[in-house]
Amino acid sequence: MSSRSFELLMSVDRNGHESLHAQVERQMRDAIRGGTLRPGSEVPSTRDLARRLGISRPLVMEAYAQLAAEGYLALRQGAAARVADTAPLQQVRDLPPESFSTEIFRYDFRPGIPDLSTFPSARWLKAVEAALKAMTPNDFGYRQRFGVWPLRQALAEYLGRVRGVSADPRQILITSGFEQARTLLARALSRRGVTQLAVEEPGYADRDVWIAAGFTLIPVAVDKAGIDVAALARSKAQAVLLSPAHQYPTGVVMSGPRRLALASWLQERNAVAVEDDYDAEFRYDRAPVGALQGLAPEHVIYAGTSSKTLAPALRLGWMVVPPELLLLLEDELRQIDYGRSRIDQFAMAHFITTGDFDRHLHKMRALYRDRREALLVALRAELPEVEVSGISAGLHAAVRFPRRLNEEAIIERAKKRDMGLGFLRRHYLGGAPEESTLLLSYANMPESALRSGVRTLATILD
Ligand SMILES: Cc1ncc(COP(=O)(O)O)c(C=O)c1O
Repeated sequence: MSSRSFELLMSVDRNGHESLHAQVERQMRDAIRGGTLRPGSEVPSTRDLARRLGISRPLVMEAYAQLAAEGYLALRQGAAARVADTAPLQQVRDLPPESFSTEIFRYDFRPGIPDLSTFPSARWLKAVEAALKAMTPNDFGYRQRFGVWPLRQALAEYLGRVRGVSADPRQILITSGFEQARTLLARALSRRGVTQLAVEEPGYADRDVWIAAGFTLIPVAVDKAGIDVAALARSKAQAVLLSPAHQYPTGVVMSGPRRLALASWLQERNAVAVEDDYDAEFRYDRAPVGALQGLAPEHVIYAGTSSKTLAPALRLGWMVVPPELLLLLEDELRQIDYGRSRIDQFAMAHFITTGDFDRHLHKMRALYRDRREALLVALRAELPEVEVSGISAGLHAAVRFPRRLNEEAIIERAKKRDMGLGFLRRHYLGGAPEESTLLLSYANMPESALRSGVRTLATILD
């Protein structure tokens, strides 16, 4: 705390009925209890405070001695007076609990998290260093708020090469991940008059943003070939949200004929598809199918993220936007904020263009492929009745049981064994099938933990 704010914090009233030292004492006690003066922070010397308040020094000394006796201040001969580390703080009441789950489990099978221990910190540090060296003074200002040019260029090349996305760098907007892309899209599509949004059934369960923005969500079934385009065509949908390369959460890949049918539907209805391409880089048996965007670039908004390939903590994603919607989305981005960290964006550009990103993906693909295999072997040994669906890809497996389990009770029982579990049922908007399906992530646990985790799971289900 600066001496100036300290002055604002305290004042004395000579005409009040409280004595001067009691006033000093009370104000400082309140500031410490309330957290304005934090444990360990320095307070002014008695001489200094007396001078600033225009009172005599013994009065302040008396107040400090009292506060020290109460345990608020630590006074030491020859050293500055400080707020005691053990000073009693007022309990902060009435704070709502954090709604987002912060639970950490030894066996965390819940999907959505990549391996968090292999973030390439050393290479990232190099990329940040290179970024800082390459940035001109103007780059540290408010420029390039839709995304820095080197990153948009690097992504146009990367997405074209790896995902078959057809993009001019000018069509790329940098976001803080798919979640932000979704907020921007909800606002932009609303402005375009879209009210009927088809979503995959089952699909990504976080749908609050669409609902809050007033969309009517139309669940459209997903089968072994992806979203049912015939059913979509029979609906009133004006837009569709989907994950064709590796459907979340079933893990199916959209078939060629379905993709063509979808592209025709988009053209005929002049509709928009939002393609959530969250983890397509991780296919283990062969090269992943290209993005839908490549088939119908005028009608598809492609959204990618670094949350699965690098880490959710980066909060770095991108959108490839049809030229017709570009101004609208830029306008929404401008209204929401001034874009995300330009330093990280320059670093990401460096990370991609040096080949570090490809090398990291190569390494992670091998790691996840082995983990997936370890999970499947363990499941065959411990839970032979389950059926694993979905292609050999991504970060989790959908594991179907031949009957309905008591899902709530199993989740609770698992928690007591330090295990996080998630079922497929919550990903349905309408009715889910009777049988239970567990979504088991294998990404964030070494193989040994996967094996003992599946053994523990078998005892929980017993
Ligand atoms: C289907 C799907 N899409 C997108 C995301 C990523 O969101 P973000 O880029 O905001 O981290 C997730 C993360 O869990 C996801 O499961």
